[in-house]
Amino acid sequence: MSTNQEKLQELLEKRAEARLGGGEKAIEKQHARGKYTARERIAQLLDEGSFEELDMFVTHRCTNFGQDKKHPLGDGVVTGYGTIEGRLVYVFAQDFTVFGGSLSETMAQKICKVMDLAMTMGAPVIGLNDSGGARIQEGINALAGYSEIFKRNILASGVVPQISAILGPCAGGAVYSPALTDFTIMAKCISYMFLTGPTVVKTVTGEDVSQEELGGASVHSCKSGVTHFATETGEEALQLIRKLISFMPQNNMEEAPLQKCTDPIDRLEDKLNEIVPDNPKRSYNMYDVIGAIIDNGEFLEVQRDYAKNIIVGFARMNGQSVGVVANQPKVLAGVLDCNASRKAARFVRFCDCFNIPLVTLVDVPGFLPGTGQEYNAVILHGAKLLYAYGEATVPKVTVTLRKSYGGSHIVMSCKQLRGDINYAWPSAEIAVMGAEGAVGVLYARDAKNADDPKAYLAEKQEEYSKLFANPYQAAKYGYIDDVIEPRNTRFRVIKALQMLATKKQTNPAKKHGNIPL
Ligand code: HXC
Repeated sequence: MSTNQEKLQELLEKRAEARLGGGEKAIEKQHARGKYTARERIAQLLDEGSFEELDMFVTHRCTNFGQDKKHPLGDGVVTGYGTIEGRLVYVFAQDFTVFGGSLSETMAQKICKVMDLAMTMGAPVIGLNDSGGARIQEGINALAGYSEIFKRNILASGVVPQISAILGPCAGGAVYSPALTDFTIMAKCISYMFLTGPTVVKTVTGEDVSQEELGGASVHSCKSGVTHFATETGEEALQLIRKLISFMPQNNMEEAPLQKCTDPIDRLEDKLNEIVPDNPKRSYNMYDVIGAIIDNGEFLEVQRDYAKNIIVGFARMNGQSVGVVANQPKVLAGVLDCNASRKAARFVRFCDCFNIPLVTLVDVPGFLPGTGQEYNAVILHGAKLLYAYGEATVPKVTVTLRKSYGGSHIVMSCKQLRGDINYAWPSAEIAVMGAEGAVGVLYARDAKNADDPKAYLAEKQEEYSKLFANPYQAAKYGYIDDVIEPRNTRFRVIKALQMLATKKQTNPAKKHGNIPL
């Protein structure tokens, strides 16, 4: 064998060794847990054959606790770049077969390298997380590694989209980087996120809790709102990332890719003319409205199982990516509360970061009153949504379907919060509050003195409704640009978005605002 052939042979052997990560046994164990290896996951995520790996031969430098005897090539993470639908993305996938995917100093350097490339090139970063957190043997160097990653997450925020899939038991530092990214996806039965695992919880607080109860996909998709999506399997999570990224631009200087629209833009939806019930206390399903006005009814909902009284997600209108925010009258009458406000505010800010126009569908009776909400700082959470809409400079089209009362009217992208085009259906009621509440405040004393207080209040309610429970008071002042036929909503919104395509608006120069956190 010539020297060249020997060198080539050495390269091939090293590559084969690196591809085995923590070894065949560890890979078998990973598969037995119902999980794929880092490289298998990358292959599922990216366009076939597009992955270019970097730093395959990096090894850790730790000598503590016998670490000097084990130097797996690649050290616990596979990094590189490839394409999704032909568009460049950077990716890192933690390899649980190597020290439980725990983060070493060198592993952090590998991750930081692709994050830096992503920032320089202006392309999204996708992290596939499956990690026991900071590599305990490395001590402070592992913590320093995390800090370097977090710093990059923060600086990349609003510059390039960052997406995290949680595909294993992610603990400690392994959850803070995903928390700093734009979207987090968990897969049921294999994904867990917690700061400290069940063993530590038991030691510190005495609480007996399983991984699933502490930080499973359903906990974080329904209760905490930490994750934006929960899929049935890991493969589904990876396919979802492909779909999600199709709605986004590569970076904050670009527009989201335009797709060919196969759905007629002037499609009339007669059912919308009848969808709002005559009885204001009866609900209807906002998903029916969203499905009827967007292209082909294709809606990618974000945080579907959290704060269901508000709906947020991505859709296309005439092929253009839009962010939809809509009150859901079927859940809590569509009221705004702490969680709904937080959920929508985060989504609005994402869309604004990445030049995705906002379409807001309003049917909101107000903020949820009571100590439960006040003690949980509904004032601050509501203010987040107010702030998010007010600072957003992307095109904003608002359609008021029915109720739009008081503070919640203002919050939901009203004209004075720089709503560009504000439409209302004839069924809209835009006022300080509903008839019952208003009459209760204005006429409580008079009603007491009336011969028939009930009839008196009913009469006053009727009077109030005639005056205020319509869109024309707001239209009279130009706060509503037009009252539109519900069945024509798709066309009117698309026309407005087309008109707004060249919108240029900037905020006053500042270091950054101080959103009420
Ligand atoms: C080194 C680790 C490790 C870690 C796991 N391993 N976590 N090695 N550092 N942090 C190793 C295990 O020793 C084991 O090695 C292999 O990975 C697989 O782990 P198992 O425990 O066998 O797997 P499983 O039963 O699935 O449990 C996974 C786990 C558990 C839930 C993640 O390993 C665990 O609780 N790890 C510690 C989690 C934690 O508390 N991390 C916080 C670190 S502090 P062998 O050789 O046996 O295969 C931190 C602070 C950063 O992250 C803060 C920044 C803000």
